[in-house]
Amino acid sequence: MSQEPLLRVEELTTHFFTEEGVVRAVDGISFTVNEGEIVGLVGESGAGKSVAASSLLRLVEGPGEIVDGEVTFRGETLFGVEERSDGELVQRDEMLSNAEMRERIRGREIAIIFQDPMESLNPVFTVGGQLREFIEINRDLGADAAKREAIDMLREVGIPEPENRYDDYPHQFSGGMRQRVLIAMALSCEPSLIIADEPTTALDVTVEGQILDLVDDLQDKYDTSFIWVTHDMGVIAEICDRVNVMYLGEIVEQADVEQLFYDTKHPYTCLLYTSLSGLPRAIRDVYKRQHRGHHARSDQSALRLSVPHSVSGRARGVRSGASGRARRLRAG
Ligand SMILES: Nc1ncnc2c1ncn2[C@@H]1O[C@H](COP(=O)(O)OP(=O)(O)OP(=O)(O)O)[C@@H](O)[C@H]1O
Ligand SMILES: [Mg+2]
Repeated sequence: MSQEPLLRVEELTTHFFTEEGVVRAVDGISFTVNEGEIVGLVGESGAGKSVAASSLLRLVEGPGEIVDGEVTFRGETLFGVEERSDGELVQRDEMLSNAEMRERIRGREIAIIFQDPMESLNPVFTVGGQLREFIEINRDLGADAAKREAIDMLREVGIPEPENRYDDYPHQFSGGMRQRVLIAMALSCEPSLIIADEPTTALDVTVEGQILDLVDDLQDKYDTSFIWVTHDMGVIAEICDRVNVMYLGEIVEQADVEQLFYDTKHPYTCLLYTSLSGLPRAIRDVYKRQHRGHHARSDQSALRLSVPHSVSGRARGVRSGASGRARRLRAG
């Protein structure tokens, strides 16, 4: 019998109920994360990656709403619905309460590194103070012990002279250092899973490379699983074990990372290879050999001919309100 994955996502669906209609930001995605795995979620801007990431921890805010699907973590239901006899969808009884999500799951079992560091770092408080407070709250440690732990974590993620940098404010840290602090914060409760939403996108490639190496090392040491959100196939190639390619709210391709690069199935994935310059040379060369046919005309417009619509030009799936709203979830 196959082992239950750490995280199982089935048909997860998150819609935004706007004045103009229903935006189907995440439209029935299914994937799993096993213990110790780094699973990629890749797609261009607007594909639904961040909404999917927030949905896993039930952090979607209005007008967004998770309307369907199931998320289980170690077999516990983080989100789940069932259909009542009248056809109405209601939240399942065994779903964890908001308090359980807050106190047991978020930060402690599953940490999230947001795309915008300022969602996690407050510019008016010191870096060390924020990390200490996070550790104090989430690990029930006293202030002194939490401070020692915070300094250890800063050292662990490669901040030089952490005792001296402890009282610095976020603006005194470089972008790469701020990302290291967020990784320290995420790791500090030794969660089983970290959801990292494009944590290296704003960094230059050298610093990005250092952070990816760091994550690789930490992943080996702590055996933490990751969901790594990115639009960059190079990053996927570098650290992921398996990858899910997202396009307009759906997962269009799902594969082991080697399989994806050596045997690409979906034309949209091919389109993402327009970021080929970010790939390690060995993989790039193999990919180009394997896909010589696809790349007969290797400019972007040639690739676009092979996908149904111009990806960046197509509007999101905004539908008229009625059908979407009919499927809205009733809190049960
Ligand atoms: N508050 C909101 N109201 C309406 N639509 C929203 C809202 N937040 C997100 N969306 C829509 O959901 C879709 C998915 O957005 P999301 O932020 O998940 O994209 P993404 O893949 O993370 O993109 P990026 O790479 O730019 O971060 C987008 O079309 C976006 O416009
Ligand atoms: Mg995003």
